This record gives sequence, structure tokens and C-alpha cells, in this order.
Amino acid sequence: MWSSSAVARNTAVLLTISLLQLARGSPVVKSGVINYSFPDDFIFGVSTAAYQIEGGWNEGGKGESMWDTFLHEHPTFTVDHSNGDVAADSYHHYMEDIEMIKKLGVQSYRMSISWTRILPNGTDNNINQEGVKYYRTLFEELVKANITPVVTLYHWDMPTPFMKLGGWTNAKVIDYFEDYARVAFRLYGDLVKMWLTVNEPHEGCLSGYGQATLAPAMNSHGLGIYLCTHNNLLAHARVYRMYEKEFKPLQKGKVSLPFESAWAEPHDPNKADDVEAAENYLQMHLGMFAHPIFSEEGDYPRVVREKIDNMSRLQGYSRSRLPYFTDEEVKALRGSADFFSLNHYTALSNTPSAMESYFKVPSLHQDTGVRILVYPSWPKPFIRWQYLYPQGFRKLVNWLQNKYKILKEIPIIITENGFADFGGIEDYDRVDYYNDFLYQLLLAIHEDGCNVKGYFAWSLMDDFEWIDGYKHKFGLYSVDFNSPNRTRTPKLSAYNYANIVRTRRIDFDYIKRPEGLNTIALK
Ligand SMILES: *[C@@H]1O[C@H](CO)[C@@H](O)[C@H](O)[C@H]1NC(C)=O
Ligand SMILES: *[C@@H]1O[C@H](CO)[C@@H](O)[C@H](O)[C@H]1NC(C)=O
Ligand SMILES: *[C@@H]1O[C@H](CO)[C@@H](O)[C@H](O)[C@H]1NC(C)=O
Ligand SMILES: *[C@@H]1O[C@H](CO)[C@@H](O)[C@H](O)[C@H]1NC(C)=O
Repeated sequence: MWSSSAVARNTAVLLTISLLQLARGSPVVKSGVINYSFPDDFIFGVSTAAYQIEGGWNEGGKGESMWDTFLHEHPTFTVDHSNGDVAADSYHHYMEDIEMIKKLGVQSYRMSISWTRILPNGTDNNINQEGVKYYRTLFEELVKANITPVVTLYHWDMPTPFMKLGGWTNAKVIDYFEDYARVAFRLYGDLVKMWLTVNEPHEGCLSGYGQATLAPAMNSHGLGIYLCTHNNLLAHARVYRMYEKEFKPLQKGKVSLPFESAWAEPHDPNKADDVEAAENYLQMHLGMFAHPIFSEEGDYPRVVREKIDNMSRLQGYSRSRLPYFTDEEVKALRGSADFFSLNHYTALSNTPSAMESYFKVPSLHQDTGVRILVYPSWPKPFIRWQYLYPQGFRKLVNWLQNKYKILKEIPIIITENGFADFGGIEDYDRVDYYNDFLYQLLLAIHEDGCNVKGYFAWSLMDDFEWIDGYKHKFGLYSVDFNSPNRTRTPKLSAYNYANIVRTRRIDFDYIKRPEGLNTIALK
């Protein structure tokens, strides 16, 4: 179906890096077709987000989002001084996107609505009919093509007027988010049956509010980050309960929110302190978000509550930097999800530590109080934060399954998983990544009995990757960002994914590396 000749541009880079990786650990070569298959009711899909692909930032009556405004005011924020004004121009090329999804053979497409495309000012007093029509057409075309839309309401593109009022640190924004969600449910609920409210509150609040590595770059470490966390959770619960009351009886859809998490490995699994450190890390970075919704007792996990309360007291605050939920809020949050939506990319390992000199005071890292390490044997092929440890994926899914009993009744759906490189069609490393990570998912399903019912690859195509601009690529399809048409081309990983979706099995020999092109060593 495609030429298997090596692309010179990529080969040199890959060889250098692969040799480096080989020095770090010996490769485990898997081959053949894996006997375990993905169950018949398992959903395959691909994911994107509006600001990362859509473009048309000021077209069709769209209002400005925080990312539009922030990057126009701070053009050097991204590594390549780029922004998402045009991105992959899906605003004009969405029919090509649908063709691409059809070719992959997946049943589902996760995408997001740009809040200010349908509500230019963020508020429901001004509904932009041209924007309304854009998504209506897109959803209709998807449904016509037998592709189920899974729609994120908020994938980080806060309306600028609300950003100026403090964004998610302002609890009043929750009211306006509810209004927006109601408009979206009313407009599209006949076609959209799977909704995601707030994308990755941990990453959005940590990097955008606690640091300055995502907009709005608030850098309110240890304070704004927890206001954002608290309000994101409340915003989710508010919208979940509103849908449940006003729409679910008729529309019969499902609602959840995506949590992203690295796997945290105890640095020395035989040391109790390291095991505890890794557990604390997971509780502070994932449990803080998941426990209020998926645990039986609700609220923040006790260790999270105590760590932040204790540290706040020690630092002379007369109140905890992590706000408290009322009993009613605890109740509204508990059980407010119809499935567990998990995004996963990387792993790290933990040892206990007093305080590292690089921890800001106060901060989530300081409140957590564990040292973050990685194993030298874990390859870090391209992007600064992505370490390859596929087994961590299986362990993370098991951690959730063991922690939250409700996951016996409602499934885990992987809503993002993917691999970053510097681009190119012959993406053998991405093929390996998907094979290796999906293999670990099969083991979690078949050998551990985990209730995983779906998998969405990030991403359908190369896109705007926030602070990394267009430097790093995650796509199954390459996008030529120099062409006015933003021409899309399938990569080898697209053919490989299509084969997995078609056969419901992983064939490690489906895409063969040319002789002499080394694999990145995965232990
Ligand atoms: C698949 O099953 C066959 C027959 O039971 C066995 O011989 C083979 O080793 C298995 N392959 C893998 C990759 O497990
Ligand atoms: C609402 O948004 C539109 C489009 O961005 C803008 O022209 C208008 O000034 C805004 N109105 C208010 C009251 O902010
Ligand atoms: C918080 O402080 C209390 C009282 O000093 C102590 O008993 C508890 O173990 C501390 N909790 C954590 C998680 O450090
Ligand atoms: C862009 O697409 C249009 C319409 O399909 C085509 O006529 C044109 O040649 C393309 N331009 C480039 C530069 O590929």
C-alpha cells in the first residue's frame, strides 16, 4: 500500500538517537501477531482539539479565546514563535479530516468545540449562528460517515473576557461554563452522545496557573493552581448534574472528563519509602482529581488534604491553600462520570526527599515532597518530557482499577495516547510506540481483568502543540504547514493503526523497518 523505502531526512536522525538509546538498554524485539485481541465492544478512535487544528481564529464571527489573545501579545512564548491562527486549518478542511478518519476505520472521533466560536463573548446572550452551523455540519457529516463524535467542551481555550476576570481562579466562571454547556447540549445533543467537560484539569491548572508553561502563564504556584483545580472539579460536577437533570432523560448521552497521568514507578520497588513516594505522587497528581469523582467516600484523598493543610499551616497561612468542598459539593462530585477518561504518555520514578532546591515555595511539587527521577534505561527519544516505559501504562490502568471500585461498573476509556517526534512519513518509532502501548493495554484487559473499553490515539494529524508550537509532531497523518492547503499525508503509523483497528490484533511485523534502521530500545 505504500513504499517502504527509507526517507533519508529522517534516517540520519533516527540512527543517531537509536544508537544512543541502544547504549542505555538492550532491545526486546517482539514479532508476529499477538494472540490477544481487542474485544468486539472495544471502541477505537482518534483525538484532536479545536485550538490545535482548527485555525480560522477570527473567521465566521468567532470571538477571541485566551490562546488567541495570549499568543498575539506574547509571540515568543512558543519555541518556534508560532500560534494556532491557522494550524491545520480544519475550519476549511474538515471534510478531509473525516475522509482520514474513515480511512483509519475507527468508529469514533474525539474533538473539541471552541467556546468562542459559538459564544463569541463567552456568554449566552450572543450566539454566533455561523459558528453553530460549522459544528452542526461537522457532527452531521461524522454521523453520516458512521463515526461517533466524542466532544470536549473545554480544551483550554478559555474566552478572553473570562481570562481577564481570572479564568478558572474565578468561581463565577463556573456559572458561565454551565450556560455554555447548556447551549452546546441543546444545539448538538441529538447528534453527540459522549461529552467531556474540562480537558486535563491537572495539566491545565499546573502548567497554566501554577507555572508559566501554558496560557494564561499565571505562575501562581501553590495557590492559583489549587483554585483552578477546585473550580475545574466544581465546573465539571455542575455540568454533569445539569446534563443529568435537563438532557439525559431524552438525549441518553454519557459525560466525563479526561485526566492525564504519567505512571509513577517506585525508584527501588523493594524500598518501602520509594513505594510510598510513588503512591504519594500519584495521589497528589491524579488522586486529587479522580478521588472526588470515582471513590466511594468522595472529596480529596486524605493524604492530599493533609499534605496541603499541613504545609500551609507550617508556612503560616491561616487557611489551607487547597479550598474545602461543602458536603453538597462532595455529593455532587461523587459519581459524576459515566466512564473514566484517561490520557497517558509517559512515566517517571520517585524516591522520598525532603525538599529539592528547584521546588518553588509554595507549590504542588513542594506539597508533594518527593524527588522525581527517571531510569536511565527508559528511552527519551525526542520531546523533553516523554520517557518510554510501556509497562507503566498497564500499571497505571491497574492502579485505577484497584483504587476505584466503581470501575467494575463503568469502563475506562483511553482518550489520548501518542508519541512525539520531529516529523516525517516513515515514523517507525511511532509504529513501535502504538504497538508496545496497545500490547500493554491488551495485557491489562486479558491478564489483569481491567475494564478498558476504548482507545483514542493522539493525534489524528500533526498539530499546534502549545508551547512546543509545530516543532513536535504527534500525528498519524502528517500536515504540510508550509502549504496553503495544509496537505495531509498518512504516515506508516496510520497504516499500522488501521490494521490494528481492522484485525483487532497487533501484528509486530506489519510494518517492517528497513535493514540497518535501529529500533529505539524498549526494555
Ligand atoms: C499464539 O498462539 C499459538 C497457538 O496457541 C502459539 O503457538 C503462539 O506462540 C502464540 N503467539 C504468541 C505471540 O503468543
Ligand atoms: C462580543 O464579541 C464580538 C466578537 O468578538 C465583539 O465584536 C464584541 O465587541 C463583543 N461584545 C462585548 C460586549 O464584549
Ligand atoms: C499532618 O499533620 C498531622 C499533625 O501533625 C500528622 O498527624 C499527619 O501525619 C500529617 N499528615 C501528612 C500527610 O503529612
Ligand atoms: C490547493 O487545493 C486546490 C483545490 O483542491 C487546488 O486547486 C490547488 O492546486 C491546491 N494548491 C496547492 C498549492 O496544493
